[in-house]
Amino acid sequence: MKITFVCLGNICRSPMAEFIAKNIINQKGLKNFIIDSCGTSGYHDGEGMHPGTKKILNKYSIPSNGFISKKITNQIFDSSDFVVVMDNSNYNNIVNMFGDNKKIIKICKYSNNYSQVPDPWYTNNFQEV
Ligand code: 4NP
Repeated sequence: MKITFVCLGNICRSPMAEFIAKNIINQKGLKNFIIDSCGTSGYHDGEGMHPGTKKILNKYSIPSNGFISKKITNQIFDSSDFVVVMDNSNYNNIVNMFGDNKKIIKICKYSNNYSQVPDPWYTNNFQEV
């Protein structure tokens, strides 16, 4: 089972989702999961995660070593069972890049309070994310 989390820059929201998911899977001792994250833009390719995301992961003792930002590719999309997007703009970008597909999931489908994950690049509210 491969789950790829996607946001715009792949430095704030989707890395946070990636390492939270990896931590849950590790703590539950689940096997056979591959967790990844990507951006739709490539704006920050090759960079580490945003310090605001790193700070939140550290606060909750969630390991997040070895992260390098990257743009989603055909190979990553095709090899993923689920491509989980943070907001409606990410959704539209992914549909434009790869076509409509049932494996594209809005993460806020699972939230009672939010229809999209607010982008801390603009809000600076990493705690809310
Ligand atoms: P993210 O946040 O999509 O959650 O990683 C952003 C990071 C960078 C930019 C936009 C959003 N940017 O425009 O560079």
